[in-house]
Amino acid sequence: MIAPSVLSADFANLQRDVEMINASEAAWFHVDIMDGVFVPNLSFGLPVVEAIHRHATKPLDVHLMIVQPERYIQEFKAAGAHVLTVHIEASTHLHRTLQAIRAEGMLAGVALNPHTPVSAVSEVLHDADLFCLMSVNPGFGGQSFIPQTYEKVRQLRRMLDEAGSAAKIEIDGGVNAQNAADLKAAGADVLVAGNAVFKAPDPIGMIAQLHGA
Ligand code: DX5
Ligand code: ZN
Repeated sequence: MIAPSVLSADFANLQRDVEMINASEAAWFHVDIMDGVFVPNLSFGLPVVEAIHRHATKPLDVHLMIVQPERYIQEFKAAGAHVLTVHIEASTHLHRTLQAIRAEGMLAGVALNPHTPVSAVSEVLHDADLFCLMSVNPGFGGQSFIPQTYEKVRQLRRMLDEAGSAAKIEIDGGVNAQNAADLKAAGADVLVAGNAVFKAPDPIGMIAQLHGA
């Protein structure tokens, strides 16, 4: 599954870019929320998520890069989130937060920064629907892929298979036509791609290429 990251879209032509993704082979819209505290950057907030949701014909995969993400679960549900992902590094009571996300009828995701070992999620393998391995330090689009991610994908794949968990593995950061096939082979299910898609001369063609990799 390919999830283009709206962070790299042209915000002055957001409807056009949403319609491009609607027409492509993408599975989800990846929507990055940054608070300037958990990460050193600001992106956009709830009104923009609502606006994307009004035009999107595919589910919204919302990635919260914010402190205390448990404070906004209902608001993101109301704004149209299908998947709501919180960072383990920002979640003192991760298990409770995942339960609260599912109780709102959303899929619950956990994101791990590059330095966080996959063993950190060993006790919540059945409590999340998605594990997002950050393959860059979160905060900005257009950064280079961190190659240690391959080993983390393989390890997490083994952990999920052994536990009998159907949770998906998502890779976020620096995904492109060069690493997509290797990430799939390592066990990734969902590839987020921002710059690779939106800076391509033919974004729909690039999404197809990543999809078929
Ligand atoms: C990074 C974000 C990513 C970002 C990916 O903090 O979480 O979703 O938009 O962008 P690229 O694919 O350009 O690395
Ligand atoms: Zn993201």
